[in-house]
Amino acid sequence: MPEVADRAGAGAAAQMILELLPEPVILVQGGEGEAPEIAYGNQAAREVFRLELAGAPLGAALRRPEVLEAIEEALATATSAEVAFETIGVQPRFWRAFARPLEPGPTGANQLVVVLRDETDARRTERMRADFLANASHELRTPLASLAGFVETLRTHAKDDPEAREKFLGIMAQQATRMARLVDDLLSLSRIELNEHIAPSGKVDLARTIQDVTDAIRPLTEERRVSVVTQADDGVRSVTGDRDQLVQVIQNLVDNAVKYTPAGGRIRVRLDAAASLDAARAPSRTGVGLSLLSPDSAHEAPGYVVLRVIDEGPGIARQHLPRLSERFYRVEGQRSGGTGLGLAIVKHVVNRHRGGLMVESAEGEGSTFSVYLPVAAA
Ligand SMILES: Nc1ncnc2c1ncn2[C@@H]1O[C@H](COP(=O)(O)OP(=O)(O)OP(=O)(O)O)[C@@H](O)[C@H]1O
Ligand SMILES: [Mg+2]
Repeated sequence: MPEVADRAGAGAAAQMILELLPEPVILVQGGEGEAPEIAYGNQAAREVFRLELAGAPLGAALRRPEVLEAIEEALATATSAEVAFETIGVQPRFWRAFARPLEPGPTGANQLVVVLRDETDARRTERMRADFLANASHELRTPLASLAGFVETLRTHAKDDPEAREKFLGIMAQQATRMARLVDDLLSLSRIELNEHIAPSGKVDLARTIQDVTDAIRPLTEERRVSVVTQADDGVRSVTGDRDQLVQVIQNLVDNAVKYTPAGGRIRVRLDAAASLDAARAPSRTGVGLSLLSPDSAHEAPGYVVLRVIDEGPGIARQHLPRLSERFYRVEGQRSGGTGLGLAIVKHVVNRHRGGLMVESAEGEGSTFSVYLPVAAA
């Protein structure tokens, strides 16, 4: 009877599919007045609960009373149920359990299949989006409130005071510039993120690009009386990249160095060749170093170019280092006047380039930011 054989084959395949499904699936059964028992749990379920599930009481796997209750109720009434819960541990996870009744089993006991969906990442993304919106609105609201305040003053108290008017208009212009920059940076960040998964394919001469950027900020460095010295290793080759985005990287790092270096100070921008990932992320000095972004080492490039921006500014205390590339993060007490988006932009561009980002700094000892990028194919 070929049909039966086929069905048996299909049954075995279904069993295997169930076993290999990435979502945890358990089969629960229970008769009238008995504590429900797990009849089967697929591999994912066994890993999540760290239990040999077959034959275990349901309570051994799902310990949260409200989850247990919802599933017991669904089992007893042969109805569907959906319940969200959190597991605690080294890494808390958010789950949603979907219970669906099946036909009663051979012994007449009620049966229920429970599928668990891991919603941790979705939750985290949702949370980040909400935080981001709150931060962005807050950053825009501050200069906006100040602008509105000055408009009011100009209309009333300062109406006939030309000197005050000039002063207030100056501040208003500054606030408007700040808002425009914030919006530009936000748009820039969202554009970078939009194609972050598509690696760039152009060829960029970094030494040349550094020169262009440092030439362009000469008026600023002269005004701040800091010097910028550039130096490139002979072995440095072109990198695979998007020139405009790499300009943004260099600009943001040099900008920070200039901003935080006291008058008379010196900033060095260096380019070194590195033959391997390990060589590229080797520390450049003693002190506290931290990787803010590492490329996937499974896709190691045949060589890297390391760009370092080294300053003699106030340095950054250790506890701030891990958070520097978060959007809107600024070290407290430092009145940078910036929006805290610069290093977030740097990180996303470097990530798109399959490169890495490192910071080495300590209070009172200046800072070194290093970016390493894969070299272009010959
Ligand atoms: N070279 C540096 N020396 C000391 N502190 C730094 C340096 N670079 C960055 N920081 C600290 O890291 C924070 C984040 O830098 P980031 O470039 O992201 O923002 P920002 O410079 O404040 O603003 P933006 O770049 O948006 O104008 C800064 O506010 C500053 O506190
Ligand atoms: Mg900055």
